Amino acid sequence: MQLKNSTVLITGGTSGIGLELVKQLTEQGARIIVTGRNINALSETKRKFPGIHTFQSDVSHPQDIEQLYKDVTSRFPDLNILINNAGLMRLIDLQDTTLDLENINREIATNLSGTIRMVHQFLPHLKNQKSAAIINVSSGIAFMPYTVAPVYSATKAGVHAYTQALRLQLEDTVVKVFEMIPPGVNTNLQNDWVMPVNPKQMMDADKMVRIAIKRLLNDKKELRPFLIGVIKMASRIMPNALIRFGHREFKKFKTLHTNNQK
Ligand SMILES: NC(=O)c1ccc[n+]([C@@H]2O[C@H](COP(=O)([O-])OP(=O)(O)OC[C@H]3O[C@@H](n4cnc5c(N)ncnc54)[C@H](OP(=O)(O)O)[C@@H]3O)[C@@H](O)[C@H]2O)c1
Repeated sequence: MQLKNSTVLITGGTSGIGLELVKQLTEQGARIIVTGRNINALSETKRKFPGIHTFQSDVSHPQDIEQLYKDVTSRFPDLNILINNAGLMRLIDLQDTTLDLENINREIATNLSGTIRMVHQFLPHLKNQKSAAIINVSSGIAFMPYTVAPVYSATKAGVHAYTQALRLQLEDTVVKVFEMIPPGVNTNLQNDWVMPVNPKQMMDADKMVRIAIKRLLNDKKELRPFLIGVIKMASRIMPNALIRFGHREFKKFKTLHTNNQK
């Protein structure tokens, strides 16, 4: 996929992997449009990268997506790459009755429905370009449910399945479909967690994005580091062992969470 002179829309481009995409895609000579909910974070991103364009937009709100589509395609008719990166991840005890029915679904509204709605809204526009791409960001967790983040795990497995279907449905169009599959990456995603993560076990966002861009330039459909290949393989050979291994984290979380609520 050619990146130079492409026009790229990145959802959630104000932090972590999205912000690193802004940096490295700018270096590749792409024109960048960034969304996010927090206006201060958007201004700060614009301050760091004055050449980019920012729009306040929440992917979990369909009206925001409609408005974004109107604003972006009227100002940037050359838009040809959509990166569905916006996401959130919470640790959830499914027996926690303090979470109401709206709240329990938040990851689905953003990570999964947000991705599907963005594609649905922008696809007709992308199909009219000379060359175009959709990049959906899933996770290694798509192959290995992480029991401490059950709703997040469901969304990422969903994004993976949806992306595979989308790729085949679009195979006769100009729109190429890619899936970025990060492992654990040092970002703000885990900031609110009661259970601290070990940064040494995480990949740096610049490294993850460097690998993703290299693979994107070479038209590899999965933008992922080697470790994800290992996880995919292990998830086929010993799925239960892998889930059980991750489940130890839920037990730690449950203790911390219960103590926190006292
Ligand atoms: N970090 C990891 O370990 C890891 C691993 C695998 C996959 N991923 C995936 O990578 C993607 C990026 O995550 P990250 O780690 O870079 O997290 P991050 O540092 O927390 O960044 C998330 C970005 O998404 C935006 N965002 C959140 N909810 C949004 C919404 N409803 N509408 C629009 N923008 C929204 C945030 O800005 P606002 O809050 O201002 O909206 C922010 O710019 C996510 O899809 C995540 O699931 C991350």
